[in-house]
Amino acid sequence: MAAEAYPGAQEFLPRQRDPTHLRRAAAQCRGCDLYRSATQVVFGNGPTPAELMLVGEQPGDSEDREGEPFVGPAGELLSQALENVGIDREQVYVTNAVKHFKWEARGKRRIHKKPSLREVRACTPWLSAELEVVQPRLLVCLGVTAATAVFGKTVRLKDYRGLFTRSALGPLAFVTTHPSALLRMRGRDGWEQEHRRFLTELKTVKAKLTA
Ligand code: URA
Ligand code: SF4
Repeated sequence: MAAEAYPGAQEFLPRQRDPTHLRRAAAQCRGCDLYRSATQVVFGNGPTPAELMLVGEQPGDSEDREGEPFVGPAGELLSQALENVGIDREQVYVTNAVKHFKWEARGKRRIHKKPSLREVRACTPWLSAELEVVQPRLLVCLGVTAATAVFGKTVRLKDYRGLFTRSALGPLAFVTTHPSALLRMRGRDGWEQEHRRFLTELKTVKAKLTA
């Protein structure tokens, strides 16, 4: 397939831009090939509007089965971290840059595969539509894939991490690490330091919201 062959999500967007119509339309999206091997679309979830919107990479194995974002192990780490810094997850709109799970089989397990830039681009119309209905004051990118979607170009985490930057999609964006990257470090050297840094960054976000 040629590099430009993905139609992208744009043509699947509904005329009515409210959460219910968006969610229903996303379930029919064929904007790239990822829908083929995923169980279901995993659309964003949370109140609309919301002051804070969190953007992850793409659903994982648990999210693909349950149809909701950040409900697996990475989601658990995220929920605990939010609670730790005093951010109520119920008040936050949580979504992903890419709405279908990309994976490869390893034995009986489905191993997460990083989405390509083309897939991120194909899926960005959903993120833009979510921004229209969520109208967040602040957008937090969890990891480099989210930052790539939000800034509309390939970025390096270290250039953006810990900073508030005006995003291509509109609102002020803050970049931190991905909870799955933290999970992979658990029990290894540097884990505590990285985890503490994540909490410190979430505290910065909390402070910005209450400023
Ligand atoms: N990782 C993500 O980026 N998003 C999820 O929803 C779950 C794990
Ligand atoms: Fe559509 Fe995004 Fe799913 Fe691709 S990953 S089919 S663009 S919803």
